[in-house]
Amino acid sequence: MASLCSSPGLPLLISAPTVQLLLFLLLLAPSHPQSLTWMQGDPSVEGDSSGENDPLREEELPSEEDPPDIHPKPREEEDSLRSEDLSTVKSPEDTQGHQSSGHKDKKGDGHDHWRYGGSPSWPQVSPACAGRFQSPVDIRPELTAFRQALGPVQLLGFELQPRPELRLRNNGHTVQLSLPPGLEMALGPGREYRAQQLHLHWGTSDRPGSEHTVDGHRFPAEIHVVHLNTAFSKVEAALGRPGGLAVLAAFLQEGPEENSAYEQLLSRLDEITEEGSETWIPGLDVSALLPSDLSRYFQYEGSLTTPPCTQGVIWTVFNQTVKLSARQIHTLSSSLWGPGDSRLQLNFRATQPLNGRMIEASFPAEVPSSPEPVLDCFATPFLPGDILALVFGLLFAATSVAFLVQMRQQHRSATQKGVSYSPAEMAETGA
Ligand SMILES: *[C@@H]1O[C@H](CO)[C@@H](O)[C@H](O)[C@H]1NC(C)=O
Ligand SMILES: [Zn+2]
Repeated sequence: MASLCSSPGLPLLISAPTVQLLLFLLLLAPSHPQSLTWMQGDPSVEGDSSGENDPLREEELPSEEDPPDIHPKPREEEDSLRSEDLSTVKSPEDTQGHQSSGHKDKKGDGHDHWRYGGSPSWPQVSPACAGRFQSPVDIRPELTAFRQALGPVQLLGFELQPRPELRLRNNGHTVQLSLPPGLEMALGPGREYRAQQLHLHWGTSDRPGSEHTVDGHRFPAEIHVVHLNTAFSKVEAALGRPGGLAVLAAFLQEGPEENSAYEQLLSRLDEITEEGSETWIPGLDVSALLPSDLSRYFQYEGSLTTPPCTQGVIWTVFNQTVKLSARQIHTLSSSLWGPGDSRLQLNFRATQPLNGRMIEASFPAEVPSSPEPVLDCFATPFLPGDILALVFGLLFAATSVAFLVQMRQQHRSATQKGVSYSPAEMAETGA
């Protein structure tokens, strides 16, 4: 691809006139960078669009992998902040019913005393967290195994009526929406589940916070819809059983428009800023919180991403992302508070090693070779190159004309004064 890209451009540039232009360009080079910078770096112009943030974040990814190291400052606050699946899974809010706005202490499980990026270490909280097949993981599409048998995920009864209202709770680790009975999900024939709850993972206003990553890229946020296999009636019974639990996961990304489905949750976060607080919201179309394309996804067996880190969880990570406005993503990442006067942010676990696991894909996930090459060839070198050549060609022409005119004038004046000049010069010299 690289050779194809460079070849088209070079011939054009190498033409005779172009060589002169290139030399000319070199002289003007210093002023150039500024214009380029100006063209690219107008965050102010795009303002709200954090689309630019994503690329930046991607580059920062390596460091973000370890939440702890990443937030030296925020950390103090964050340490006690994040959590997710397990607390939700193991403690079906239903059982605990209305804990009012009490404290986390109420949890007697012992699994509730963990936090992101601090002590105690998770394996100390739950030995399973040191297991070999943990979640989340980094997904490398080119290394996944295409399995044609993986059909579209099927949802039934996800479009809830407003009336029974649903509990929305800040449990100190995440914001969790409890789902009523009747939301049926199937990963395939005989692989049937019932949705229990959904929750989110996020970062900060300027750091992404998805749990899974794709080719090392972390997305702004991630939604998890936790399901219980129909073979079990309680989450506790399904824990640790292969396929006992299944989570549908999707990445939340910034888009130009407000997401009305998510707004129904986000607009209520200001009522549950305090850890342990909860509110009730009208039932909504839960499927609208997931991507429209449920046929393209990655799937693997992993674990809960918070203590007790129980394994045997089937993870389905959709290839299509969900778009939220920049404002909405900001609202998500900056509204809630966790334990100890700390903001509830960066509530994601570092990616875990696959340890031989194979991630399957419902679609051929080979890296498309056309998109990038096209961008490289035309977007960057080609168009800008031509434009620059034109601009500087014109400048060069103008400068040449000016130069010639001036030369002619000098020559003319010199010719006119020629006679008187030589005497003067000679006089001076002689003097
Ligand atoms: C979707 O799949 C394509 C093709 O494999 C891949 O390049 C892209 O990174 C994937 N995106 C997500 C969010 O999975
Ligand atoms: Zn989760």
